[in-house]
Amino acid sequence: MDKKFLIAITVLTSVLMVNCTKKEQGNQASVENFGTLSSGAEIKKYTISNSKGLTAEIINYGARVVSLKTPDRTGKFEDIIFGFDDLASYERDNSYQGAIVGRYGNRIGEGKFILEGKTYQLDINDGKNHLHGGKDGFYRQVWECRNADPRSIQLSYISPDGEGGYPGRVEINVTYTITDNNELKIEYSGKTDKTTILNPTSHCYFNLSGFPENSILNHDLMINANYFTPVDAGLIPTGEIRPVASTPMDFRTPKAIGKDIEAKDEQILYGHGYDHNWVLNDYSGQVRLAATLYEAGSGRLMEVLTDQPGLQFYSGNFLDGSMTGKGGVKYNFRTALCLEAQAFPDSPNKPNFPSVVLRPGEEYKQITIYRFSTK
Ligand code: GLA
Repeated sequence: MDKKFLIAITVLTSVLMVNCTKKEQGNQASVENFGTLSSGAEIKKYTISNSKGLTAEIINYGARVVSLKTPDRTGKFEDIIFGFDDLASYERDNSYQGAIVGRYGNRIGEGKFILEGKTYQLDINDGKNHLHGGKDGFYRQVWECRNADPRSIQLSYISPDGEGGYPGRVEINVTYTITDNNELKIEYSGKTDKTTILNPTSHCYFNLSGFPENSILNHDLMINANYFTPVDAGLIPTGEIRPVASTPMDFRTPKAIGKDIEAKDEQILYGHGYDHNWVLNDYSGQVRLAATLYEAGSGRLMEVLTDQPGLQFYSGNFLDGSMTGKGGVKYNFRTALCLEAQAFPDSPNKPNFPSVVLRPGEEYKQITIYRFSTK
């Protein structure tokens, strides 16, 4: 290898490493120790913010957002996402708090799919199905910090060939940025050395009131979707693309989440509330508005923008008070919700759904933005 090239690479790597490890100085990120995993791996917490004070804390265990502070209409900053105060709780967590999940966000029926004539069997970790990448998905992995500055952090993970049952060695990069426009922007990129499937998403639990004890049933939600993908009792899509019109799934104009959540409707019963994928309008690969979420008490408004075909809205139906979160708060039924931008669940087994196949030489890309304001 050319000597100058080697020196350049060495210098660049050490600059990046410094940015990932030093306390805030000038344009370097704020980095703290967050704890040590049972494997002995040391986990760091990175703080990113903009000049207006919007602040996120990210750890490199599962690339998780552990806090997100945004102002209410009086300018008071509060943490609007769920999580834990300590690493051990994240290590025990089975609810994917704040994490990047994958390789496949959401479910694959019986964890099986056929690709280029070969059948693959993934981990089964949700009844008889595969969920969020399996028992050792991205959310349980130690990610490497590639670069960090006061506004942005890039984390990277190399998933070995066969991990969780998936083919190919996959490299996934996630960059979190707090923009001047009061956004948490999440940019993904990924590549593989064998044909595979890839569909990561962010699994933050939001409660815009700033009070994690409060129900989310009074949050007003709009989802920019004329259709959704109905599921069976195991929450696997049937393959049908059904209009939301005249169903509890109709969020085309803002509606309180609680309005239809107790409807005697087969889909609501299967989901124990909302736990479905909406087929976002205007899918063309460009970033567009997917959803808005508003909490009148605080005045907080969150807009979700994405280039993805689908949005999973999960109304926190599995929260049951058994989990103690930040500040000792018990996370009760429907006190937080997730809006997960992604391809549709079980796409590998549904030829009519947008493809999630990634081939060597191609690049997986995703941009999802959570934008904050008040009204
Ligand atoms: C996703 C799923 C839900 C549930 C949560 C985590 O949103 O769709 O069914 O598994 O993750 O508890």
